[in-house]
Amino acid sequence: EGLKDLFTDSFYIGVAVNGQQVSGKVPEELALIERHFNSLSPENGLKWEKVHPEMDRYDFEFGDAYVALGEKLGAFTIGHCLVWHQQVPNWVFVDEAGRLLGKEALLSRMEDHIAQVAGRYKGKIDGWDVVNEAFNEDGSYRESNWYKVAGKDFIKAAFRKAHEVDPAAELYYNDYNVWKASKRAGILTLAKEMKAEGIQIDGIGMQGHYMLESPSLEQIEQGIIEIAEAGFQVMITELDVDVLPRPGNTQGADLNINFANSPKYNPFANGISPESAAKLSQRYTDLFQLFQKHKDKISRVTFWGLHDGRSWLNNFPVRSRTNYPLLIDRDLKVKEDVFAKLK
Ligand code: XIL
Repeated sequence: EGLKDLFTDSFYIGVAVNGQQVSGKVPEELALIERHFNSLSPENGLKWEKVHPEMDRYDFEFGDAYVALGEKLGAFTIGHCLVWHQQVPNWVFVDEAGRLLGKEALLSRMEDHIAQVAGRYKGKIDGWDVVNEAFNEDGSYRESNWYKVAGKDFIKAAFRKAHEVDPAAELYYNDYNVWKASKRAGILTLAKEMKAEGIQIDGIGMQGHYMLESPSLEQIEQGIIEIAEAGFQVMITELDVDVLPRPGNTQGADLNINFANSPKYNPFANGISPESAAKLSQRYTDLFQLFQKHKDKISRVTFWGLHDGRSWLNNFPVRSRTNYPLLIDRDLKVKEDVFAKLK
């Protein structure tokens, strides 16, 4: 029995996959993906800098292998992400003289990118993160190049284009800290406005980059309820639980681990302290209890990575650490104590 089988009546269980995994170079990881997950997200391979590194060059090697894997597994296959301020090359925003483009020129570049990428995978990607991380914590718009040049119209134009290119695909807005009321208010105001204007937007992804004690379950629950009440699917899109302290923000971190002495990254090392392991287990139990309670609102819960050795949290917010944020450890063993309590 896999993780996905615990939740067949509730929501998809997804995993973010990388290039090695989709190209079949790590068969033992592929076997775990197949066993435990029924939805896939591309961790990096469909981001602008990867799929469209130069103005006249697209690289679909990852994407083609990715959608083929999705088809083979019969998985609900996510595209991530069409428009973001990170992992996007600078040439996108400037002309030959290096000057920032005007609105029309930038939006046409963006629409062209969407046509190429979403167009190639039409019918093969079930849902797209159309726009990622466009809001600040206080609910105002992030001052990205996209926003500076085009205002919030860049978001509307991106959703319009994605729908035009692949009318059957679901379309999502995705962000972190959606549990924060102020940030969520900005997102929902725009999402409702778009809906009222007839622009398709099906769901809001709450990136689940959580810590052991923060955010609170109440904060997450409030987010789930409000998004659903506004008429959108809720997705927990990038779930992991950081067990290490964060510089400048120890709130919610595991204070038993001294930040300065946190272990050096070793992809093969295990050794989470028993205290942290117990907290991690409890955190996942609590989170999944909450998700189950709201299974009528939540369509998918996606882990950001397959196992601890592959997690981006080994390098974020600080490089070269040994983190333990997922349900499968570095030895590719499912954390059975957590697994047993999940449903
Ligand atoms: C991360 C990847 O996991 C890393 O490998 C990469 O170096 C940086 O991006 N929010 C998102 C994801 O939407 O795309 C990010 O993924 C994590 C934060």
